[in-house]
Amino acid sequence: MTTSIIRLLTCGSVDDGKSTLIGRLLVETDSVPHDTIGAAKKVRRTGSTIPAGEIDFSLLTDGLEAEREQGITIDVAYRSMSLLNGKRLIIADAPGHEQYTRNMVVAASRSDIALVLIDATKGVRTQTLRHLTICSLMAVKRIIIVINKLDALDYSESVYDQISKEIRQAADRLHLQDVHVVPVSALIGDNVVFPTHNMPWYSGATLQDCIQSWVAPKALDIDGLMRIQMISRAENFRGVSGTVRAGAFAVGDEVTIYPSNQLAKIARITTFTGDVKQALESDAITFVLEPEVDATRGDIIAKNSADLIPSDRFAAHVVWLNEDPLIHSRSYLMVSGPTTSPTMITKIKHKVDVNTGEHISSDTLKMNEIGLVEIATDIPMVMQPYSQSREFGNFILVDRLTLKTVGAGMIQHSLRRSSNIVLQDYEVTKSVRSAQKNQKSRVVWLTGLSGSGKSTIANALEKRLLAQGAHAYVLDGDNLRLGLNMDLGFTPEDRAENVRRVSEVAKLMVDAGLIVITALISPFEVDRQRAKSLFQPDEFLEVFVDTPVEICRSRDPKGLYKKSAAGEIPNFTGVGQDYERPKTPDLVLDGTKTVNENVDLIVQELL
Ligand code: ADX
Repeated sequence: MTTSIIRLLTCGSVDDGKSTLIGRLLVETDSVPHDTIGAAKKVRRTGSTIPAGEIDFSLLTDGLEAEREQGITIDVAYRSMSLLNGKRLIIADAPGHEQYTRNMVVAASRSDIALVLIDATKGVRTQTLRHLTICSLMAVKRIIIVINKLDALDYSESVYDQISKEIRQAADRLHLQDVHVVPVSALIGDNVVFPTHNMPWYSGATLQDCIQSWVAPKALDIDGLMRIQMISRAENFRGVSGTVRAGAFAVGDEVTIYPSNQLAKIARITTFTGDVKQALESDAITFVLEPEVDATRGDIIAKNSADLIPSDRFAAHVVWLNEDPLIHSRSYLMVSGPTTSPTMITKIKHKVDVNTGEHISSDTLKMNEIGLVEIATDIPMVMQPYSQSREFGNFILVDRLTLKTVGAGMIQHSLRRSSNIVLQDYEVTKSVRSAQKNQKSRVVWLTGLSGSGKSTIANALEKRLLAQGAHAYVLDGDNLRLGLNMDLGFTPEDRAENVRRVSEVAKLMVDAGLIVITALISPFEVDRQRAKSLFQPDEFLEVFVDTPVEICRSRDPKGLYKKSAAGEIPNFTGVGQDYERPKTPDLVLDGTKTVNENVDLIVQELL
C-alpha cells in the first residue's frame, strides 16, 4: 500500500542547526506563509549575525526549544509540508536529551524516516548514538544522517568521510539498513533542497530527495490478515468488519480466527457500496463467515494458518515510562490493539544502554530505561515481530490498580516453548479430591504487618480445623523462606516473586483438595490481587490482620522492629517500606482481639 503521508522525526539539538535546517527545508519547499517569512527577515535574536533583510530560518521552528529552556511541558512538536510527489510530510520534533527518551521513543514509534543531525565541527557524539539506538529499537525504516555546518570546515570531504565511516559502523551494529548520509550547510543552503556547488565531490541525493524517494516497504509477508474492529449485526445478518492489513481475501477462502483457532469460510464480502468478490490490502470490508463463528472485537482473521501462531510467551523490548520502576514477577495488564491480557514480566534479560546500544544486566527498569524482557500473558495473543509490523507487534503495559500506562513494548519474537507446553487433563479432579476429604478446598490468605499475629492466627486456625476433621496446611512466609524461597530477599521484586510462588503452591494444594492458610506479609495490593486471580471467587478469602504498627512494634516477637530502628533493616515493612492496606478484603480482623475470637470469625466465613 502506498501511503500519502510520510512521517519524519528530527533528532538533534538547536546547537547543531536543527531549527535552521528545518526552517530552510520548509521555506525552500514553499511550506511557510509569506508573512511568517517576512517576520523572520525582520526579527533578530540578541547576538544574531544574520544581516537584516535575510531570513533567520531558525526563527521559524524553535517553539519547542523555548519550552525546553523554560522547563515547561516537553512534548513533541509537529509541522507539516507538501512534497513534490503529492505526498504530505509530517515532521515531528522530539526533545533528544536522555531524560526525554520516552518522548523520543513515542515520536519514533510513529515515524517512517528519522533525520539525525550531526554538527560536523563536533562529529559523532553520544547523543547521535542514542538517537540511532532508539530509531533501531523503534523500527524506523530509513535514517537520513545530515552532516551540517560543513561550510565552517571548508566543505571538507575528509570530515564527511570520517563521520560517514563512524556512522556506517554504528548502523551495522544496530542493524539499520536504509541509511543515507548527506553533507549540508543549513546556513548557506547546500544539499537541503538545492544541490550544492560548494562540494563538487558529492553527487548524491539532497535531503529533500532522500525524503521524497521513500516508499513504505511491504509490512508483512502474510497471505491475508485482518483484525476485527467491529461485529456488525442487522436483521438476518452477522458480519465481522475491519480493514485488511496484509495480503488479500476472496469469497470462498478458508480462514482461521485467532486466538480461538476456529475455522470458517468467507461466504460474502460486503462494503458500503455493495458486495465484492475480493478484498485487498487497506480495504475496509465486512465478511460474512460460514459457519457463524464466535468472534469478538480484536480477534484476528488470517487466510493461511501457518502464518500466525497464538502464543503466551514473548521476548520483547520494553521502554519504562513510569516513575516507579518495573517489578518483574508483578502482574500488569498488556494491551495490544483491542486485546487486553494480564501479563507478567518473567525475566529481564538485559537493559540496553541507549547511548551505546550495549547490553547491561539488570533486575529492574527505571523510568526512561529500555530492556529486553520475557513476558508471559494469561491469554494467548497473536503478535508479530515489531520490526515487521508495528501494528501487530506493539503493546503497552498498564498498572492493574491505577490503570496508568507504565511501559511500552515491542515484540521481538514469540518463544517457542509456549507451544511446546500443553495442559494435561487428569481424570481425578479438584472436586473429587475435596469431596473425598469432605470439605471445600480453598485459601485463607492472611496479610498484615510483621508482628500483626498472622502466624499465631494461622497456627490456631489449623488446630481448630484439624479438630473439626478438616484437612488444612499452613504456608508460612518465614518457613518458606528457609527452603523454596531461600533465594528471595525483601525488595518489592522479591516480595512480588514470593507472593507469586506461594500463590502457585497454594493453587496446587487447593487442587489437591486442601484448605490452605497462608501467613505472608504480602504488602502490595497488586501482588495480592494477582494471587486472588488464580482462584475461583469462592476459593480465596483475603483476611487482613489489622494490627496498629505501634502494637506490632511493642510485641516485636523476633526483635526485628528494634533492629530496623537501629538502621539494620532498611526496607522493613511499615518502617522503611510501605504496607498497602487491602482495598477490598473479605474479612478484617482486629489484631488486638484474642486469637480465639479471630479464629471464630474466620471459621464462620468458611462455613
Ligand atoms: S513478604 O513481604 O514477602 O510477604 P514474608 O511474609 O515472606 O514477607 O516474610 C516476612 C518475614 O521475614 C517477617 O515476618 C520477618 O520475620 C522477616 N523479615 C526479614 N526482613 C524483613 C523485612 N525487611 N521486612 C519484612 N519482614 C522481614
